[in-house]
Amino acid sequence: MSERIFIGVAWPYANGPLHLGHLAGCYLPADIFARYHRLRGNEVLMVSGSDSHGTPITIRADQEGISPEEVLNRYHSQFLETWQQLGITFDLFTNTHTENHEKAVHEIFGVLRERGYIYPAVMQLAYCAGCHRFLPDRYVEGTCPHCGEERARGDQCDTCGRTLDPQDLIQPHCALCGRTPEFRDSEHFFLKLSAFEQPLLDWVRQQSHWRPNVLNFTRAFLEGGLKDRAITRDLSWGVPVPLEGYEDKRIYVWFEAVIGYLSAAMEWAQKTGQPDRWQDFWKEPTTKSYYFIGKDNIPFHSIIWPAILMGYGHDLNLPYDIPANEFLSLENRKFSTSQNWAVWLPDYLERYDPDPLRYLLSINMPESGDADFSWSEFLRRNNEELVATYGNLVNRVLSFTYRNFAGAVPEPGPLSQADEALLETARRAMDQVGESLNHTRFKVGLAQAFSLAQETNRYLDSQAPWKSIKSDRQAAATTLIVAIRVLNCLKVALAPYLPFSSQKLHEYLGFDGAIESERWDFSYLTDAIKPGAPLREPRPLYTKLDPGLVEEETARLGLQAA
Ligand code: MF3
Ligand code: ZN
Repeated sequence: MSERIFIGVAWPYANGPLHLGHLAGCYLPADIFARYHRLRGNEVLMVSGSDSHGTPITIRADQEGISPEEVLNRYHSQFLETWQQLGITFDLFTNTHTENHEKAVHEIFGVLRERGYIYPAVMQLAYCAGCHRFLPDRYVEGTCPHCGEERARGDQCDTCGRTLDPQDLIQPHCALCGRTPEFRDSEHFFLKLSAFEQPLLDWVRQQSHWRPNVLNFTRAFLEGGLKDRAITRDLSWGVPVPLEGYEDKRIYVWFEAVIGYLSAAMEWAQKTGQPDRWQDFWKEPTTKSYYFIGKDNIPFHSIIWPAILMGYGHDLNLPYDIPANEFLSLENRKFSTSQNWAVWLPDYLERYDPDPLRYLLSINMPESGDADFSWSEFLRRNNEELVATYGNLVNRVLSFTYRNFAGAVPEPGPLSQADEALLETARRAMDQVGESLNHTRFKVGLAQAFSLAQETNRYLDSQAPWKSIKSDRQAAATTLIVAIRVLNCLKVALAPYLPFSSQKLHEYLGFDGAIESERWDFSYLTDAIKPGAPLREPRPLYTKLDPGLVEEETARLGLQAA
């Protein structure tokens, strides 16, 4: 029975290029998950877009002396290109600066206000007398009242993950000039989060399938008590407040960005020509919604977004799962955009292929704990695992067959016990990898697919078709077709992780069309390999990389960071 899966992926701020940490944190796991479900024949809608508002964009615009729109357009098109080159297959990657989005935000804002979940109140905002301006939350720095971190920001403490208001900070100071800000009165709208404390607690209690980090964090957050939060700001860039007298204010970026998950589904439906189709993904109670995010975004997805949805009503689905990843570090140091300690995706893509990176970030995904990326590990895993274990397996089976059996799938004799055993291993591996992916366990899933490749290498070594071909051609033919059938399974089991190499393998195996139209089905895949069917001349799937790259790339990082 086919399922329906909605996949929302964190909306990146369009204020600079993306780096490996972003990819490992949410885009790659989301894409693997989407590709897997599509191969399973499930109906998937995967959306995200550029987070177009908020101070990150205006800071960049101010620095460069250009408009926020120009910043948005530049990085939005760069993101689209990056997704394409990396094979991140969004059904729609839009942005939050669209009319469609504004309409959805206004609709939800209006309903919440009618129901008393959004109300106006006077609040105190940080005003810096040195800079002559109200300070955005993240321009106020100080000590976190929860964990004592001295460099917490007025919107969030990165050390303990708590969301904050600038007034919560101990010894607040302006991030631009260091002066202590004064707090001045300003009228704003508040989201009545306190009304959702109990409903959220009841709901979270039923989510025992969530990852422990997400569940524990959310529980602790709720048990600390929910305070109402201001959802408008004194700014000129952002979604306008749909009321008179609020012309100088905008809706707070976090309140409106999460609504993007819904507005993007509506925009997608519009574009398919069936404008009501978004409802299949939002109103069908059997649809499961997954939100792929980094751990710093947990409270917005496990508390604020569900509270908005509960308050809005209209039977919209709450998140089914929020598989947040932990952080990736780079050469054992935190990624830092300001210190330029990062590997930027456009730079990576200029120098290397996408699949080796997808492989490394999957096998080493920061899934249940933090993980580190280093160039030496990139080199090692490319050469010893991708090339040596999998690439060589494909290459030796296909080249040998191509040369000795006139470029076609050999005609087998009766299957031996060893042949049957390998096929049985492949059948089980497909089930196991599928089960892992279903549970968003990406590292294990990839390891399981690779142990099938290893098992196939052992099988070939023991069957040695390059020897048997001299005395018993039919035995060699049987070994090879069995191996080719397993390769056809591996091609699909690895396609969510390594889509570009799976496409190539698909073609070497003699097929036309896109790997995406294949099926995750052992019997279908083994039957599809027909004796006598033509193969295509194979080429190596991966290239061995030169050890010199480690020094070269590390030097580049050092230079960049200097
Ligand atoms: N732009 C935010 C960040 O980079 C993520 C926003 S996710 C959303 O941390 F759902 F709120 F859009
Ligand atoms: Zn803290």
